[in-house]
Amino acid sequence: MIVTNEDRMACSAHLSADGRSVEILDQRQLPNREVWLKLHTAEELYEAIRSLAVRGAPAIGICAGYGMYVLALHEETEDGAALLAALERAGEYLISSRPTAVNLAWAVRRMLGVVRANAHRSAAELRELLRRECVAIHDEDIEMCRKISEYGLTLVKPGDGILTHCNAGPLATSKYGTAIGPILLGKERGIEFKVFSDETRPLLQGARLTSYELQRAGVDVTLICDNMASLVMKNGWVQACFVGCDRIAANGDFANKIGTSGVAILAKHYGIPFYTLGPRSTIDMDCPTGADIRIELRDGEEIRSKWYAEPMALPEVKCYNPAFDVTDHELLTAIVTDRGIVYPPFDVNLKKLFEES
Ligand code: MRU
Repeated sequence: MIVTNEDRMACSAHLSADGRSVEILDQRQLPNREVWLKLHTAEELYEAIRSLAVRGAPAIGICAGYGMYVLALHEETEDGAALLAALERAGEYLISSRPTAVNLAWAVRRMLGVVRANAHRSAAELRELLRRECVAIHDEDIEMCRKISEYGLTLVKPGDGILTHCNAGPLATSKYGTAIGPILLGKERGIEFKVFSDETRPLLQGARLTSYELQRAGVDVTLICDNMASLVMKNGWVQACFVGCDRIAANGDFANKIGTSGVAILAKHYGIPFYTLGPRSTIDMDCPTGADIRIELRDGEEIRSKWYAEPMALPEVKCYNPAFDVTDHELLTAIVTDRGIVYPPFDVNLKKLFEES
C-alpha cells in the first residue's frame, strides 16, 4: 500500500508542512470547532497528550514519534551522544504524560532505538533517520488500520447494528481507525450498518468524536447514554460490539476506555459477540495479564463540573475517576489485528501472531 503525504496530512496528528513541528487537530474542541495546534517543545507535547488534545492510543503513538523527531531538530547539538541523552530525558518525560496506552512508550522507545543503533553517526544523520522512522510509524498505522478494517468487515453483515464505546475512529488513529474502521470501509463499499455510539462519560468521546465522525461520513449513527446500552441490546438492535484498546496483555485481557468492561459483560448476557480491534503496536507481550496494566487516574473535576454550566456535585464530594478499565479475556469473542483475527486461547494465539512476523 502506498501512503502519500496527502494521506498523512489528513490525519489528526502529522508533521507540519514546514517539517518543524507536530500538527494536531485539537480534539478537546470537537465537535464545535476544528482547531489545529502546532507543537514544538517537550512541554507542549506533554500537555497536548495529558489534556487529550491528541488522544486515542495509536494517535498518541504517532504524535510521540513525530514529537521525538521535532525535539531532535530543535536540540542544539551536533554531537550524537548529546542528542541521545537529551532525547532519552525528553522521552521519559513524554511517556509519563499518560501511563495506560502502550503505543506512547512503544513509539518513544522505537525512536530512541534508532538513535542507539546508530550511535556512531553525526547528529545531522541521526535527525534524518529519526524523520524516516516517525513517518514509518505513521505509514504503518495507516496500513494496519486498513487491514484491521478489512478483517473486521468479515465479522458483520450488511444492516447489522454495531455498538461502540469511546472513539476508535480516524481521529484516534490514522485513516479508517480501528473499531470504526470496518464501518467506514463498509460505507465506502456501499455496505450500511446501524451504529450505536455510547456517549462515554465522563469525557464524552463517543458523543463529541465518534458520532461526529460517523455522522459526517454519512453513517447511520445513534448516540446513546452509557446506561442505555443494556436496553438497546435487549431490544435486539445490536449484532456485534466493536471497541478499541489501549493495551492488550499477553493473555488477551485488555485496557480500554472506562465502561468498556461493562459493555462486554452486557454483551455476554445478551449473547452478542464482543470484539476489540487494534494494531500490533497495542499488544504488549511483556505485560502478562490485565492486572499488570497501570490505569490512569484523572481529576475528579471531569465528573463534578466539566461540561456543565454549574457544578453538578459539591466541590468537597469525593470522586473516583479512572480513565480506563480492563476487560477480562473471557468476555472477548476475538481480537481483530492487522495480522488477522485472533480467537481463544489468546495466550497461545497472540504469541503465534508475533512468532509469525
Ligand atoms: O482517553 P482516551 O480518549 O485516549 O481513550 C481512548 C480509548 O480508550 C480508545 O478506545 C483507544 O485508545 C483505542 S483508539 C483506536
